[in-house]
Amino acid sequence: MLRFVVAGAEFDNFSFELANEAELAAFLARILSCEEAEIWSYMREAKADPGLTTDLWRRLRWRLDYTRRPPLGRRLTWYVLARALTPKLVVETGVQDGLGSLALLRALDHNAREGFPGRLISFDTLPTAGWLVAPSERASWRLVTGSSVERMPDVLAGEASVELFFQDSGGDFELASGELRLVLAHASASAVYVSQAQRPALAAFADQQGLRYHAFYHRSFKHVIPGSEMGFAFDAGAVTAQGRRSSRSRSDPRD
Ligand SMILES: C[S@@+](CC[C@H](N)C(=O)[O-])C[C@H]1O[C@@H](n2cnc3c(N)ncnc32)[C@H](O)[C@@H]1O
Repeated sequence: MLRFVVAGAEFDNFSFELANEAELAAFLARILSCEEAEIWSYMREAKADPGLTTDLWRRLRWRLDYTRRPPLGRRLTWYVLARALTPKLVVETGVQDGLGSLALLRALDHNAREGFPGRLISFDTLPTAGWLVAPSERASWRLVTGSSVERMPDVLAGEASVELFFQDSGGDFELASGELRLVLAHASASAVYVSQAQRPALAAFADQQGLRYHAFYHRSFKHVIPGSEMGFAFDAGAVTAQGRRSSRSRSDPRD
């Protein structure tokens, strides 16, 4: 543990290399109804993206309180979902340093280059949240400071439908359930909901809304934390990654 705390300088939000990427690729391809090769291409892309590697490492070089080369860990899954589903609007609760936000913003940037622009709205109570995201990466980002459940109604009212939601504001069942209800009121029928710390709230939400619930265990590679599970909820009939891409390029040619 000491080795990870000193060398990794991470105290409360571990990120780790994944030991089971092949299982992850197979799982995501299955739930998104797309080819494994497509999932692998997004994974490779994330790992080679300068915004998530060299540019980020350069900025972190002198930070003593943060890992110098943070692995994406579970956020690789976030990246792949944002790439595969080409959402117009992604919402995230719980930003902390901003590694998850950065992964999503890089995925949205790649989508935009392919003709599928999208935006990210993130909520966190911390005024310092998101410090890790460089100004040059913020063009498609709205970072809202304040409690998710208090700010969501106003912020989401004037926005497009939420297509991808990451609940990452911690392990409080009531908070997560409140966030899910608020997002639902502004979400498309084919929205995908993701949670790690509050899988019970997500599973209960999926049950109430008649959505399919899936879970995947991200196994760590040589890390003091063995791994962590992530939950996914969506209308099974409405979500296919290939379907979304092809229908958008045909019926929604955004420039
Ligand atoms: C697990 S961390 C988020 C990790 C981040 N998504 C990442 O990828 O590294 C949880 C964050 O949720 C925030 N949080 C806690 N309660 C919240 C609330 N009611 N509304 C918004 N954010 C909240 C905390 O300030 C903390 O930064």
